Amino acid sequence: MTGSKTSPVRPPRVLPATLSNIAEAAIILRQGGLVAMPTETVYGLAADAGDDAAVAAIFAAKERPSFNPLIVHLPNAAIADRFGCFDARAARLAQRFWPGALTLVVPRRQQARLSLLVSAGLDTVALRVPAHTVPQSLMRLCGRPLAAPSANRSGLVSPTTAGHVSDSLGAAVDLILDGGPCPIGLESTVVDLTGPVARLLRPGGVALEQIEAELGPLEIGDDTARPVSPGQLPTHYAPELPLRLDATFVGPEEALLAFGPSPPAGAHTTLNLSAAGDLTEAASHFFDYLRKLDQSGAQRIAAMPIPEHGLGRAINDRLRRAAAPR
Ligand code: TXA
Ligand code: MG
Repeated sequence: MTGSKTSPVRPPRVLPATLSNIAEAAIILRQGGLVAMPTETVYGLAADAGDDAAVAAIFAAKERPSFNPLIVHLPNAAIADRFGCFDARAARLAQRFWPGALTLVVPRRQQARLSLLVSAGLDTVALRVPAHTVPQSLMRLCGRPLAAPSANRSGLVSPTTAGHVSDSLGAAVDLILDGGPCPIGLESTVVDLTGPVARLLRPGGVALEQIEAELGPLEIGDDTARPVSPGQLPTHYAPELPLRLDATFVGPEEALLAFGPSPPAGAHTTLNLSAAGDLTEAASHFFDYLRKLDQSGAQRIAAMPIPEHGLGRAINDRLRRAAAPR
């Protein structure tokens, strides 16, 4: 069902965003598929944010070289509150700008039923309540939080029409809902509220001045202590335990992050990312298994080699960061 890997080459399915087609899209999402949807900012590539495999399929379809965290879309602020912790600043911005082109990065709720891959293993989550009627109907019908990055291949500009999406992602998507051109045509503004001072991570559809009118001055963009893109921090999501890469044997004091049909025997604990050697499946388990091994009581984590192509590149990128000296 999901995306690029398992489906044979086929022409993209583009349907007008009528209620019955939105209902079909909701079923696809509940089954773990990928749907491109218009929003007021840009088209998003949506999947059930609680489904690790579906979220991994987003990364596969976009061919992202690393796991950038994704925005989770919700129908309203009350539901958003189940997934993130809103302080007074977050509540104020949500009240003023939602539904709309503003994304808030807040601490993730511990019990939130969200894929760890959505947050790229971070303890924070980016939340947005879109104003557009198509994602609103879609979320109402499918009843799931929707992870959705812009619906373009990595490195290309964000799509603002269904045609852009089908040119860029085509057959990697189960269904493209055509709701016409996006009214704003620019991505949402991303504000990080996880630090003491609010920080503008990405300018977008809501002007900085409007946000500063609510909160006072924001910090802007990059700073070395709190990087804009968590993926750029060398030790971004690092486990507590030391990590040994490219392991082809394993000791009884080591927890093995395995890959493929024949992992070496004798580890303290073994979790296999994909016995079948499927990189999309491996990505879907990656952050979860790394955390579990970190808490297994072993003295070290040993990670088997992962092929350096497709999602393997993103997994290796994260493994190298996690193994970097601190
Ligand atoms: O308008 C939009 O925001 C569109 C529509 C579809 O909603 N989505 C979009 O998603 O532009 P994407 O993945 O292309 O951009 C999301 C941005 C990235 O810059 C990402 O690094 C940042 O949000 N982001 C997401 N989660 C984050 C987190 N936990 N911490 C910091 N930045 C985060
Ligand atoms: Mg994007």
